[in-house]
Amino acid sequence: MKTKPVIEICMGSSCFSRGNSVTLEKVENYLQKLGLAEEVELKGRLCTGTCSSGPCVSINDTSYTHVHPDAVEDLLRYHLETRHSEAL
Ligand code: FES
Repeated sequence: MKTKPVIEICMGSSCFSRGNSVTLEKVENYLQKLGLAEEVELKGRLCTGTCSSGPCVSINDTSYTHVHPDAVEDLLRYHLETRHSEAL
């Protein structure tokens, strides 16, 4: 059984207020648009103490910092449509 790709979005107050509230919406919309909502595990996570590098997002085992909401679709495309498409 294949494991699902995992997207973790920091929901701590710093990351959330500096962009992850919008990033969450963009990720949800992207997954819906491509019919991937059931194929990907989308999780919120608590603050990990790296707020100064936020907003923080992880996709599979890769952590991203300073993630602007406008950049998240590029990250999703990279992980879900190209590099890791075999994981779906
Ligand atoms: S709020 Fe995201 S790392 Fe602290």
